[in-house]
Amino acid sequence: RIVHLNGAWVAEAEAKVSVFDRGFLFADAIYEVTAVIGGKLIDYAGHVARLKRSLDALGIPAPVSDETLLSLHREIMARNDLTEGLIYLQISRGAEDRDFLFSSDLAPTFVMFTQKKPVLGNPKWESGISVITWPEGRWVNRQIKTVQLLYSSLAKMEAKKAGADDVFLVEDGLVTEASSANAHIVTAGGVLVTRPLSNALLHGITRGSVLDLAARAGLAVEERAFSPEEAKGAAEAFITSASAFVMPVVAIDGKPVGDGRPGPVSRRLREIYIEDRL
Ligand code: PDD
Repeated sequence: RIVHLNGAWVAEAEAKVSVFDRGFLFADAIYEVTAVIGGKLIDYAGHVARLKRSLDALGIPAPVSDETLLSLHREIMARNDLTEGLIYLQISRGAEDRDFLFSSDLAPTFVMFTQKKPVLGNPKWESGISVITWPEGRWVNRQIKTVQLLYSSLAKMEAKKAGADDVFLVEDGLVTEASSANAHIVTAGGVLVTRPLSNALLHGITRGSVLDLAARAGLAVEERAFSPEEAKGAAEAFITSASAFVMPVVAIDGKPVGDGRPGPVSRRLREIYIEDRL
């Protein structure tokens, strides 16, 4: 792969970042993941808007202009022959001698790489995934898309150990989200229930798009938090993210959701999202 590093195109083996980088030492960095299908960027505007919010929240200057950022996305797709997969970008505050206090004039470290993956062709669409509930243990400002992903990674390893695919993180008896996706349920009455935006969860771009499309399709949407018990008794559950799109959750803590198969609302929302965004 050819990766982008601070304005240069380099072979992945040659792409080197300092051990003094604050992304490495302090997780002082933010990231975005954008899906590419048929050579098209999916929900690009939303990802860039959140990128700016995350940079602003940490006081990291944008390394490039909006125009340059878009052309870099196009160029990295072309250079890596990416028609389906993900574009990952990360911006850290930069490198300097290790100190909890940081200088205000650091040059950010800006990395972009591609991952070829069957996003539309993911076979899990048909079977759905299983999750376990797991205590929420991440920091409190989860609306910022930071690279502090250790807890999320350990939680997902626990899911794997339990024979499941992911977690529903639980705080104060309520689900926040999955390890790297937003969590949703559908009630027996056909209402889409999803937790409202706050610092408790990442403001998913796919979440926002799917809610808009659901409302436009005439589906009732209720933004409120739900408990693991409510999720286990729901008609359907699903997660959303740039890499999973709309992915049905068919079991929670080993208990089937609904009839244990992807439900009609999840299927329909997945179809509507793909059709609208492609
Ligand atoms: N994760 N919640 C968390 C904690 C996430 O990390 C993500 C995305 C989402 C969904 O956000 P979006 O719809 O904007 O992708 C929710 C990306 C895909 C990742 O870490 O790979």
